[in-house]
Parts: sequence; structure tokens; C-alpha cells
Amino acid sequence: MHTVLLGPPGAGKGTQAERLKVRLGLVHIAMGNLLREVVKKKTSLGEKARAFMEEGKLVPDSVILELLKNEIEFEKKGFILDGFPRNLSQARKLDELLDKEAEKLDLVINLEVKEAVLIERLKGRLICSECGRVYHKSNIDGPSKTCKDCGAPLLQRNDDNSDIIKKRIEVYLEHTHPLIDYYRKKGILRNVQGEGTSEEVFQRIMEKAVSYKL
Ligand code: AP5
Repeated sequence: MHTVLLGPPGAGKGTQAERLKVRLGLVHIAMGNLLREVVKKKTSLGEKARAFMEEGKLVPDSVILELLKNEIEFEKKGFILDGFPRNLSQARKLDELLDKEAEKLDLVINLEVKEAVLIERLKGRLICSECGRVYHKSNIDGPSKTCKDCGAPLLQRNDDNSDIIKKRIEVYLEHTHPLIDYYRKKGILRNVQGEGTSEEVFQRIMEKAVSYKL
């Protein structure tokens, strides 16, 4: 099963992709995480991406496609793409890559969340500096800001500040929102209400995934 999770910054793509990975046994490919990893390691691709990410802009397609190349697994398991595609040229490139392997995209889940909720989520997000697990300030018990999985400190992402969040939402509306129409026309888009608890959202996504399989 080849799935894309679409949605604005803070819609819960990463959170839900992790749950789907476990439930459906798919590979989770998170473009934002891949980028943060190469930026941290200061590789040449990371150096090319850094400034764009800091400003909340899209990283050039050439960098994104280079990173994606080795990540997409077309065999057995299938994948969940989170953060890719983010514009029409990336969506067409994905179709091309799948075509070459005689595969296709099966399902696009579009998470719908109001802007005020997105902003609240992003301002309160903390991520583990080692394993990348995602938290929200409101769900952390006690004063200790360390990861439950690996014990490393939790940090705020550089791009989770008011100005950059605003920019990221603008970029989403201009470049990524048109993909909703692109996938609707292909008949594979399913809209999912992304507000409510993480469990509620997950159940809604699972209903769409199950009805796709029937
Ligand atoms: P990326 O890392 O992909 O950022 P994003 O799309 O802005 O998405 P986020 O990670 O901010 O949000 P999310 O939807 O995954 O939400 P999450 O689950 O974490 O990309 C970063 C940058 O990289 C881009 O700005 C760009 O520069 C570059 N980039 C990436 N891909 C690119 C591409 N293809 N082309 C070009 N450039 C690219 O949840 C957010 C918070 O909400 C968390 O705290 C979570 O705990 C909480 N939360 C989640 N669900 C719920 C819920 N149901 N109820 C309450 N809280 C919830």
C-alpha cells in the first residue's frame, strides 16, 4: 500500500504516520526528519537545505529528490509519505517513480485542521533531540523534559516560532494545498477531520484505509 499524508504544518502528519506504520506495517518516510538529519550532520545536501528550512520556505526539488531516491521502498511493505510531495512538480515526479516500478499511489489522506489549532500545536511541540519522538508541552508530566524512549533532552524545533510558523502556513497554502485537487481528480483523496485526540484521528484514518482495501 502506497500512501501519502497531506496536511498543513502541525496537522499531525508525523504523529499519525508513526501510528499507521505500527498498525499497517508500512515504512514511514518523513521528509522533514530526513532533512533535519542531513542538516545536523552538515552534509552537502544539509548545507543546501538549511537556510530554506530556517526561513520556512520549501527546499529546492533537486535536494528533496536526491534525499528521496534511496528511501522509497517499492517492495512488499509499501510506504507512508509524510512531507512529500509538497508541490505539483514533486507530485508528478512521484507518479513517474511509481510508474517506472509498475506501482501506483493508492491513498492520499488529507488531514484538515483549523489554523488556530495548528498554531497552538506547533508552538507547544517538543521533539526528542536524539530519536525525534514528538511531544506536546501539554502532555508532559512533571518538570523533566526528557524523552520517555531514550532519555535525551526534548527541544523546540527552530522553525516552531510564531513568524516562521506563519510563513510555513503561507507556503503550504500556495504550493501544497493545490495537491488536494490534483489527488481528488485522481479519485484517491480522502479528507479526514484532524482535530480531536490523536486516537480519534487515528480511528478516522483507519476507517478510510480499511474502506480503501475493500
Ligand atoms: P516538516 O518537518 O515536514 O514540517 P511540516 O510539514 O511543517 O509538518 P510538521 O512536522 O510541522 O507537522 P506535522 O503535521 O507532522 O505535525 P506533528 O505530528 O508533528 O518540514 C519542515 C521543513 O522542511 C519545511 O518547512 C521545508 O522547509 C522542508 N521540507 C520538508 N519536506 C519538503 C519537501 N517535500 N519539499 C521542500 N521542502 C521540504 O504534530 C504537531 C504537534 O501537534 C505535536 O506537538 C503533536 O504532539 C501535536 N498533535 C498531533 N496530533 C494531535 C492531536 N490530534 N491532538 C492534539 N495534539 C496533537
